[in-house]
Amino acid sequence: MTFDTYKLMRPLLMALPAEAAHHAALLALRAGLAGKAPVLPQLPVTLWGRTFANPLGLAAGFDKDAVALHGLSKLGFGFLEAGTVTLRAQEGNPRPRVFRDTKTHSVLNRMGFPGGGVDNFLINIEKQRQCNPQMIVGINIGINKDSSTPREDYAEILGRVLPQADYITVNISSPNTPGLRDLQRAKALDDLLASLALVRGAKHLLVKVSPDMALEELNDVVALALQHQLSGLILTNTTITRPENIPAVWRAEKGGVSGAPLRGLSTAMLKQAFKISGGKLPLIGVGGIMNADDAYEKIRAGASLLQVYSGLVFHGPSLVVDILHGLEKLLARDGFSSVASAIGADCQ
Ligand code: FNR
Repeated sequence: MTFDTYKLMRPLLMALPAEAAHHAALLALRAGLAGKAPVLPQLPVTLWGRTFANPLGLAAGFDKDAVALHGLSKLGFGFLEAGTVTLRAQEGNPRPRVFRDTKTHSVLNRMGFPGGGVDNFLINIEKQRQCNPQMIVGINIGINKDSSTPREDYAEILGRVLPQADYITVNISSPNTPGLRDLQRAKALDDLLASLALVRGAKHLLVKVSPDMALEELNDVVALALQHQLSGLILTNTTITRPENIPAVWRAEKGGVSGAPLRGLSTAMLKQAFKISGGKLPLIGVGGIMNADDAYEKIRAGASLLQVYSGLVFHGPSLVVDILHGLEKLLARDGFSSVASAIGADCQ
């Protein structure tokens, strides 16, 4: 499937249930059928002592078991985040558990970290890395639903995935694992980060946060991130609030909303985090990026890097190239000579 054949296939993918369409997309990516980006604009970002070809990454959850990273890298992403991976394999929540709405460009999911577990994940990621050793790959870690020792489990999985990761994201913001978000509270997070500090060595460690935190909670998270010398925060995961512009039937459904209706909330959190940290903490902006304007807005709100998930569901594989070209134009229009010079421009 090239970008053009994706356009032909789109009605079929949209006719399938959301999760089946996702598996079809992963199959196409694995088979190298999802296309390859043409020449990309030069939008390098230097962070953590390395250069990302561009700031746009794939968000966690799209390739949970790291089966299609090589195919995904061909779409033009500057980096990829695999996972969420858990120690043991688990089924996740009963289906249906993903819903999408093409009118509002929104997704509701309550997946609950289905996946093959860390042993299987490590076999997969090693294979994918052999296909493309240049890829920058972050690994997003979580805990099993039945975990009774979250701190120990996070430390164990961190140790397991460390050698394969360019950075690690500690996911404590999924709304679909009972109790997980409680780990964002100051005392619990302080304890968790202290445990992980013993394992991480020099590896770049980030925490992914929810868009549903109160301002005081975000203050605490930013302060702890600085105190524990995290390499950054990812803002944000999906929301359990029900923004206005979503299908009415979703109001009574469990799960987290992503896509266009999440954008405002997520960008507001990002901006706050940038302001609170005084720009001292690298931030990855994710939530509702559907086009270049949305991506640019996140950079101006304080993001050094960006991620997308739901946008791919509605716009397909050419979204990456489209956003990068648009971003190049927007930066030039406003007189920015690099991505770095636009970071936080709206936070003065
Ligand atoms: C997600 N997201 C997610 N995040 C995470 O840290 N671990 C995960 O396993 C998943 N799984 C997942 C599944 C599905 C179906 C969706 C739609 C989303 C959240 C995702 O990475 C991102 O933070 C949000 O979706 C917001 O970005 P978008 O989708 O609006 O670009």
